[in-house]
Amino acid sequence: MPGVVIVGAQWGDEGKGKVVDLLAERATTIVRFQGGNNAGHTIVRDGEEFKFHLIPSGILYAEKTCVIGNGVVVDPRVLLGEIDDLKRAGVSVGNLRLSANAHLIMPYHVLLDSAGETKLGKLSIGTTRRGIGPCYADKALRLGIRVQDLLDEKILRTKIRAALEPKQQALRELSVQRRKQLKEAGEEAKASEPAAGVPDPRLDLHAMVEEHVSFGHRLEPHIADTARLCWDALDREETVIFEGAQATLLDLDHGTYPFVTSSNPIAGAATVGAGIGPKDIDEVWGIAKAYATRVGAGPFPTELFDDVGERMLQQGHEYGTTTGRPRRCGWMDLVALRYAVRINGLDALAITKLDVLSGIGSLRVAVRYRSKEGAVLDTFPYHQSILHSATPEYEELPGFDLELTSCRSAEDLPREARDYLGFISEFVGVPVRLVGVGPGREQAVWLEG
Ligand code: IMP
Repeated sequence: MPGVVIVGAQWGDEGKGKVVDLLAERATTIVRFQGGNNAGHTIVRDGEEFKFHLIPSGILYAEKTCVIGNGVVVDPRVLLGEIDDLKRAGVSVGNLRLSANAHLIMPYHVLLDSAGETKLGKLSIGTTRRGIGPCYADKALRLGIRVQDLLDEKILRTKIRAALEPKQQALRELSVQRRKQLKEAGEEAKASEPAAGVPDPRLDLHAMVEEHVSFGHRLEPHIADTARLCWDALDREETVIFEGAQATLLDLDHGTYPFVTSSNPIAGAATVGAGIGPKDIDEVWGIAKAYATRVGAGPFPTELFDDVGERMLQQGHEYGTTTGRPRRCGWMDLVALRYAVRINGLDALAITKLDVLSGIGSLRVAVRYRSKEGAVLDTFPYHQSILHSATPEYEELPGFDLELTSCRSAEDLPREARDYLGFISEFVGVPVRLVGVGPGREQAVWLEG
């Protein structure tokens, strides 16, 4: 199937990197279409661990083309750091292509993300503070700096100057408010921003332009018309994988707004973020963990606050790849998963980390919610307040004690594990085609569709 989209079906960190790595075997081209270095993929290859934030997971295959599409927001410093790390590990980056139309995360975006979150205090979203939201905001405001701008110093200077001025003003105001807040709390020494009237060296126009021109020189061999690259591969009937970052419930339009990211991680967004048509998509895979996790604030109906949740955290090593934050853990939510199936048009599911549930006792899956007023909710509520106060109702299923890490076929899995997968598949109406039973790429079980 030439065009395959792979998306997260929950709140992120479902293990998309490993699934992309496995499915990429059949592809010639792997394309990221949204998000930025808020994402984190870990791939374990022959015992060696690789962590990526921006570069598509397919980079470990020397012969495949890896594309950072126009819909991605790129922090050039981070991208160059990843390129250097890969080169040091002996991995070729000769096939990495970067869209000339992708937007750049600039130093002021990172400062604004952080200052904005600090200002929100208890109301903060819990962003990764990587500048994602402010960068997409500038894109919509048409104040963004794009990859192609790095190649023309005059244009770059003009655009940075225009974008910088309102940021300096906003940051100055945020800094004044922060100092006032800290002063009132008797903690003025904590202020990290330069005091009012002192120019912030991180926002110096001249230095910023110079640095970015040098980034441009280094990135130039990778810069390309990436939409055309995708069309050419699709026209040759090669398999192209469109790799989503974050996940359905973090989607700016369809997730749990405002506790979402600033892009669209759902499958339809692959068209915009890579420059292909809807008819170029032949198959959509959704990736879900065998339980659920979430990082940052926002509603999470099946969240656990007990020993079982703690066990998922520890057994599943549920700490963010990007920020190291512990993830909130809970039971599999089939109301939310069914929503993800519909909105992405999923053809297949990959269920990851099933091994983490071994020995946890009987398993629960949420099959409906109940509202504060007692109404039964069979579908994912679109209204924020209803979702916030919804309580899940569970189906209880038998658990399994057998260690799954060495299972390689459906027959190796205990009957209870197969029944658990069968229940999920039947409830949401999509076959489970792949099951993860450990971090290694060989720790996977393929199932008949
Ligand atoms: P931002 O994308 O950094 O603006 O963060 C917005 C929300 O998305 C926060 O709740 C983050 O924790 C969450 N988020 C962003 N990227 C990821 C990811 O790759 N995995 C899980 N959560 C993420």
